[in-house]
Amino acid sequence: MKLKTLENECVIRLNSRLNDEYTAFYFYRSASNWCKVNGFDNGYKYFLEESNQELGHAKRIEDFMADWNIMPTLSPVISIEGFFNIADLLDKAYSLEYGLLEKYEEDAVHYIDNYISLYTFINQFIQIQNESVGEYATLINKLSLTNDLLLFDTEVLG
Ligand SMILES: [Fe+2]
Repeated sequence: MKLKTLENECVIRLNSRLNDEYTAFYFYRSASNWCKVNGFDNGYKYFLEESNQELGHAKRIEDFMADWNIMPTLSPVISIEGFFNIADLLDKAYSLEYGLLEKYEEDAVHYIDNYISLYTFINQFIQIQNESVGEYATLINKLSLTNDLLLFDTEVLG
């Protein structure tokens, strides 16, 4: 019996989002390393946890593809070199999360008429991205309230 699979254009989209999730993993791992180097002890733990969550998102996509008898493609990831300061880090995190929200929304529009399983699967990522966009907007707003970076690290990121 020939098993069912997904159409190639859907596989390309899934592989692209998989690469985005690994890119996010690298980004947050870089962010946690930057925090460790620059004395943000709670930021280090905060972004380490974020990076672990991104790996979990990547695994969800890989498992979904494998369930449809597709071998996921693990492409090279572009990593970030560093950050100017914590505000720069948060701005870049917000941009990354918002950009990924737009990509998942675009995928959903593509899937909704003919690929309901994919549409249903991708909706959880739209929810995740919405929460992340809100999370980083809150952090950026809170940072704007203080010049005390130690306080921001202990009270907001802690
Ligand atoms: Fe993610």
